[in-house]
Amino acid sequence: MTSSLDDKDPPEWLRQRLGAAGGSVPFSTYMTWALHDPEHGAYGSGRLRIGRRGDFVTSPSLGSDFAALLAPQLADWLAELALELGLDLDQAGGLPGPDSQPSRPLALVETGPGEGELALQLAQALGQGWPQLAAFCELVLVEPNGGMAARQRQVLESSPLPCRWCSAEELAQSPCTGVVLAHEVLDALAVERIRWDGRQWRQQRVALSQGADPPERLQFVDGDPLEPQAEPALESLGLWPPDQRRGPGWTTELHPGLKPWLAACAAGLKRGLLLVIDYAIEAQRYYAPQRLDGTLIAYRQQEASGDLLRQPGFWDLTAHLCSESLLGAAREGGWQLLGQRSQGEALLALGLAQRLHGLQTPAAGERLDLATALGRRESLLRLVDPAGLGAFRWFAFSRDGSSAAPPDGDKPESTLLPGQINPAASQPTGQGPLPLFLRDP
Ligand SMILES: C[S@@+](CC[C@H](N)C(=O)[O-])C[C@H]1O[C@@H](n2cnc3c(N)ncnc32)[C@H](O)[C@@H]1O
Repeated sequence: MTSSLDDKDPPEWLRQRLGAAGGSVPFSTYMTWALHDPEHGAYGSGRLRIGRRGDFVTSPSLGSDFAALLAPQLADWLAELALELGLDLDQAGGLPGPDSQPSRPLALVETGPGEGELALQLAQALGQGWPQLAAFCELVLVEPNGGMAARQRQVLESSPLPCRWCSAEELAQSPCTGVVLAHEVLDALAVERIRWDGRQWRQQRVALSQGADPPERLQFVDGDPLEPQAEPALESLGLWPPDQRRGPGWTTELHPGLKPWLAACAAGLKRGLLLVIDYAIEAQRYYAPQRLDGTLIAYRQQEASGDLLRQPGFWDLTAHLCSESLLGAAREGGWQLLGQRSQGEALLALGLAQRLHGLQTPAAGERLDLATALGRRESLLRLVDPAGLGAFRWFAFSRDGSSAAPPDGDKPESTLLPGQINPAASQPTGQGPLPLFLRDP
């Protein structure tokens, strides 16, 4: 990995911002600017590209198998919601064109849709596999960054489901019923960096170095000590009382953005479920004394760098999630945890092994050339690699009891197609549906 000194030359826009802010800002502000500034930010400008030829890959950019495996889970939940709303799936009459029925009773909401590939693949999978259900569904895309939304609109031109883009605030004004998918989006929320100075925790700030020799550079500086009110939260993560194994200079991150994000997400959902898929580790590992510098990392053109102040606005900045912080923020935001699993376990429960096997034994009439089969095999294995994407965690949450089936007398007969999942029938009376990915394969 190479890093030239010039990498740290602060761009003029950032120099001016820091000057206007009194010379330094908390790391979270710097991260927000570097990622989300509409003109200069890596996502805000649309500069970052996701995919094998882009800056980094995510599960959907490896191909459509990820969406194909996820689709039955989403269909299961949407079908349960359709039952609760009393929708008659038999009467839906197949999938109408994307422009007809612009306002549909069920929404598949993707927040942070990146290139829009996952949303498109899911819309296609739902349209093909569950046409009656899909006829009641719309795609809602929540993307705060204009540069990314512009590319998503192009990709989703061919969506078989009607699509609309809206902000979290707009969604809260007119909440929907459906399923929210947050795939690798919470790791883009700005985190706070804190540093142990040997006596107390201090917020880390980003500042311009003083003096002309060497020329002005971006650097970390210690900010104010954390207020005593922060102690209970630090204690819940194992960061308080002090532990002498964490020496002066030990640095990590906190996730203040999770609580408002989960509250906003809850406000946008009248009834339904949330699936968070992200790289998350439990507090004991996140804040282990031997992890000296947190989990923040920068990505560009498939290169990973620990230099977080390099070329602001050109690198993705991402931090792992802490499971306890996510679960605590979700609880406070009115979400009930349905369950969690590693991505490897989840995808195996959803049929990844059968899909792998299917590559060797294509169905009658299906032709699969060797190079395509080997490429898909490699992608499927990458999705469950315990040292990579397979270690991601899936968290399913419900809201407003949407997982609770109505009393038996009120429950309409399920009208799913033969062979499709009937969540109501597969659950003991009075219990909500267990996510498919939590069931043993
Ligand atoms: C790492 S990409 C993930 C893209 C996609 N979900 C995937 O897995 O390929 C993060 C996406 O979240 C968007 N994003 C960042 N902050 C967001 C927020 N607060 N709410 C919704 N989306 C956000 C970014 O603009 C980008 O589209």
